[in-house]
Amino acid sequence: MIRLGLGLMLALGAPAAAWSDDGARGRALFETCTACHSRTPGQAGMAGPNLADLAGRLVGSDPDFDYSPALKAARARGLAWDAARIEAFLADPDEMFPGLWMSPPGVRRAEDRAAIAAYLMGAEP
Ligand code: HEC
Repeated sequence: MIRLGLGLMLALGAPAAAWSDDGARGRALFETCTACHSRTPGQAGMAGPNLADLAGRLVGSDPDFDYSPALKAARARGLAWDAARIEAFLADPDEMFPGLWMSPPGVRRAEDRAAIAAYLMGAEP
């Protein structure tokens, strides 16, 4: 059934990542991130920046969040989020952005990183 749904979405030309198997699994995995992050647009006041509408969004660009110098510098360089960058970030957040203020060490399994990236690139909160 899930396969059928994915096939249908691909046939209709919907963004493949939006509600693929990976997107649904990524949403479940994202539960480990919701202590600090929300994907509800406009929700502020958490320990980490809001992650709504992340596809194509500039790194460090939640207007309500005070980012580290590391992420402010990345934003100034014009870096934007796509699935590949999320996956690389989650593999080793500190390596991508030395001086990052995000304490979790990242996500160990590559397939989990891909699933979270698919979910974060989708439009569903
Ligand atoms: C303990 C709190 C915490 C947890 C848990 C956490 N993060 Fe973060 N995250 C942060 C903070 C704080 C920042 C901002 C870091 C900075 O300014 O250097 C951040 C930044 C980010 C950014 C960059 C956002 C932007 O606007 O550019 C992404 C993407 C991200 N986190 C993804 C995740 C994912 C995915 C998970 C779960 C696997 C996760 N985080 C778990 C605290 C957390």
